[in-house]
Amino acid sequence: MEGVHKSSTFVVRGESMRCIVLAAGMGVRMNSKYAKVTHTVCGKPMIRWILDTVLNLLDKVCVVVGHDADSVKKLLPENVEVVHQSQQLGTGHAVMSARNFIDPADNLLILYGDMPLITEGTIQKIINSHNLSNCDATVVSVEMNDPTGYGRIVRDKSGKFVKIVEESEASNREKAIVEVNTGVYIFNGRKLLEVLPMINCKNKKGEYYLTDVFAFLERVNIYKSERSCEFIGINNRIQLAQAEKFRRQWILEELMIKGVTIVDPETTYIDADVKIGRDSIIYPMSFIHGDTKIGEDCIIGPMTRIIDSYIGDRVTIVRSECKGARIMSDVSVGPFSRLREGTVLCNGVKIGNFVEIKNSEIDQNTKAQHLTYLGDAVVGKSVNIGAGTITCNFDGKRKNQTVIEDEVFIGSNTALVAPVKVEKGAFVAAGSTINRNVPAWSLAIARARQEIKLNWVIDKRKKEED
Ligand code: UD1
Ligand code: CA
Repeated sequence: MEGVHKSSTFVVRGESMRCIVLAAGMGVRMNSKYAKVTHTVCGKPMIRWILDTVLNLLDKVCVVVGHDADSVKKLLPENVEVVHQSQQLGTGHAVMSARNFIDPADNLLILYGDMPLITEGTIQKIINSHNLSNCDATVVSVEMNDPTGYGRIVRDKSGKFVKIVEESEASNREKAIVEVNTGVYIFNGRKLLEVLPMINCKNKKGEYYLTDVFAFLERVNIYKSERSCEFIGINNRIQLAQAEKFRRQWILEELMIKGVTIVDPETTYIDADVKIGRDSIIYPMSFIHGDTKIGEDCIIGPMTRIIDSYIGDRVTIVRSECKGARIMSDVSVGPFSRLREGTVLCNGVKIGNFVEIKNSEIDQNTKAQHLTYLGDAVVGKSVNIGAGTITCNFDGKRKNQTVIEDEVFIGSNTALVAPVKVEKGAFVAAGSTINRNVPAWSLAIARARQEIKLNWVIDKRKKEED
């Protein structure tokens, strides 16, 4: 967010803000081999969502890892501290295992690794509310139509905080409360360090509940957020899909605000880090993933999938796949083509239907319009590649290079047996199998000669009649 200065903005009475992100739980309900927070939402692991958001606001962030710690750690940026919680004995225990990170002089924000929808704006509001409250802690609550599974916020008649009761410990009356604990809190560091050792695990689950510390805190502020969707904690794959849907919509809305036309947001799937320039149009059933950058005035789709690719301005890609490709400007691709890893298309290139390109650089204004495979090739400027041209780049052991220089004409149905070179301006006749280099400006013709047998059909019929 613009104009936000890191932690210094939130310094009140000399206290700055630290943050602990809890991510040690194993996420049993995901029914997965992989740690819950490594699952992705719009192409980005859950733990990255929360960290990217909070690191935009605060510098001092600590992540508590435990279950499948190694794969979680691989996703963490360098500037966060990491603490190991060897046994997952509850949220209170998780915070206790990070006690060395807690500074009595600082405030402490607690977030969860499985909460990928929370936004910077909302975190800011929570921090502001806490700073104004003069309390020992702030609990963030929301109202949920279906509060099942969440801790409930119990208030007294005047609306003041009384306690948080976990679902498993709640009475029927308490279960009817729809204001729930999001699990997001801010604590005064000194107070938290005082009360953390007071909690125990004498409850139905036998866990150390962080929510129990509130019994020992005198002044508790409740920040009730209207944005309940941001606090969805992902426990299973149904919630994962819900989170994906929210995020996807927000990503598309942001692109539309920035000047990208998305014809049908219902059927358009764009990952978090994708960048698209103004006046580009994305047609339905398009999927744009990973580290992809698309320029201005492009036409993408319908039915196109682009992964980890760079695309310049005024490029049209219809019903095609691109992965790891670099496409400059004024290029058109498709329908039904496949650009694989290492494809480079320079300005003005035209790739038509049923063309596959891999690890090949195609220079300006070259055309390959129909039914072609170019692999491990270097193709010059203004080359015409006829229909059905194949680079035979694999000899059974290794990949070999085909070089086609500027202004070459490759006739239809040519097989180029690599390694081979067709020099500048040469002309390869249709139907040729080229296995020797073709010198500049020459004709290469490598096919059986055509024979004509006059009246052969009539003669044959006559023989049959006899
Ligand atoms: C917690 C709250 C509940 C709240 C809900 C909101 C407690 C006791 N309850 O319940 O009031 O409504 O969140 O989503 O805090 N974790 C660890 N180590 C542990 C246990 C958990 O790191 O030993 C992490 C988990 O990875 C997870 C987070 O803490 O990211 C929350 O744990 P979880 O077990 O899902 O808590 P809830 O039962 O959902
Ligand atoms: Ca949870």
